[in-house]
Amino acid sequence: MPRVTRLGGVEQTRTLTPRTAVIWAVLRAELDRRPGEQLTVLDVGGGTGGFAVPLAEAGHQVTVVDASPDALAALTRRAAEAGVADRVRAIQGDGDALAGLVEPATVDLVLCHSVLEVVDDPAPVVAALVTALRPGGAASVLVAGRAAAVLTRAMNGHLDVAAALVADPDGSAGPRDTLRRRYDADAAAALLAAAGLVVEEIHGVRVLADLLPAAVADGQPAALLELERALAARPPYRDLAAQLHLFARRPA
Ligand SMILES: C[S@@+](CC[C@H](N)C(=O)[O-])C[C@H]1O[C@@H](n2cnc3c(N)ncnc32)[C@H](O)[C@@H]1O
Repeated sequence: MPRVTRLGGVEQTRTLTPRTAVIWAVLRAELDRRPGEQLTVLDVGGGTGGFAVPLAEAGHQVTVVDASPDALAALTRRAAEAGVADRVRAIQGDGDALAGLVEPATVDLVLCHSVLEVVDDPAPVVAALVTALRPGGAASVLVAGRAAAVLTRAMNGHLDVAAALVADPDGSAGPRDTLRRRYDADAAAALLAAAGLVVEEIHGVRVLADLLPAAVADGQPAALLELERALAARPPYRDLAAQLHLFARRPA
């Protein structure tokens, strides 16, 4: 359902979905803390620019570091179509090698969405995010939730896969799993804390959306969005979400 939202002082029309609404609410609150400022944003594994381009449209300077040249080409096209090519920089590179790509302690807001579950080793990537941040800068980190994966596999009849996800220390179902790891809220928070970040908020993203029959999700999108918003910060619902969003800060 198209909604007009305010994002850092710029009116924008976008489609708010259970996949994005909670994250945008957290990011908007951070942007609103610094009205009128042009922030330096780094989106690690930012892909085709689903977050980077709207942030540039809101007036911020965004660098996307991504391993995929195809994703970066799509990002560049999207930024040009949106008229913000001058505020979006695309860099091909690895998340754990940011130090050579981005000046340390220069970034106000770093995004790392749906990346830590696919990289070889998440700890150096998180350490690199922290190094890029200015003291007082914020990190928006989105990871796959383990509990939701167990429940959905079991409900679909794949009890062996569900059991493997429970038993595996990293929450992966093995070599054929598309993700190398999944998190619960405590483990994700501990990963960020170990790198020196202070976790301020944890939200569940898609608590219900993936569990509902399509007829319900498609038939009542506004009600679903409201319910997702109501549940996102509340354990135990939060902890059953398909994804966990952590908002953290490098101490000033
Ligand atoms: C699932 S997509 C997520 C894209 C975007 N962040 C989003 O939430 O829509 C994962 C992205 O991470 C990138 N990626 C994977 N491993 C990476 C690495 N080691 N360093 C940088 N980017 C990586 C992929 O190319 C891909 O664009």
